[in-house]
Amino acid sequence: MQQQARGPVQRFHGAITLKDRMRMLRQKPVTIWLTGLSAAGKSTIAFELERQLVSLGQACYVLDGDNVRHGLGRDLGFNQQDRHENIRRVAHVAQLMNDAGLIVITALISPMRADRAMARHIIGAGNFIETYLSASVDTCARRDPKGLYAKALAGKIPSFTGISAPYEAPLDPELEIDTASLTLSESVAGIFAHLRENCLALPA
Ligand code: ADX
Repeated sequence: MQQQARGPVQRFHGAITLKDRMRMLRQKPVTIWLTGLSAAGKSTIAFELERQLVSLGQACYVLDGDNVRHGLGRDLGFNQQDRHENIRRVAHVAQLMNDAGLIVITALISPMRADRAMARHIIGAGNFIETYLSASVDTCARRDPKGLYAKALAGKIPSFTGISAPYEAPLDPELEIDTASLTLSESVAGIFAHLRENCLALPA
């Protein structure tokens, strides 16, 4: 075992390396970072992708924005500073999970480019697959599965992304999935194709 001194808090390294974990789990741990408006399909795609990956024997876990805000982010709201902190925390959890060998799928609006760049930096650019679910405000507001757009348009939810708070579309994401025109299975297949080509030795 090896100790590394950095200021008063020191890192401690155990004997098991990431390579050991990758060999054990037979996978390359990456984070598929889904970004898009509320109702763009993030959670649905994340959990279907997880289901399919697990059925192929891949160890993975979804960090879903709504779920995470019940615990890890329960003290946070939706102003820019709180969203930044939400994304920072989730990115660190994703990094730890990747370090444990898991494939991580995050489903957070993560509306600001700078915050997604921070997540990429925390997780490591080589492990970060920014995936933009590009349904428009109009499409998402028409879907409105939780009735949030109707409330936001009536002025009942302040700082609602796409209505009264900004969403900055990614300029150069690893993947873009147009969930307005693709079905759920087509959307998930698009992510799978990228994973097969770039990081997973998945069976065809
Ligand atoms: S993020 O901006 O910090 O990435 P996150 O993905 O965790 O957001 O949470 C978004 C979810 O919170 C939405 O799917 C929606 O259900 C709910 N929500 C509540 N208030 C807002 C708001 N003002 N803007 C966007 N989403 C909101």
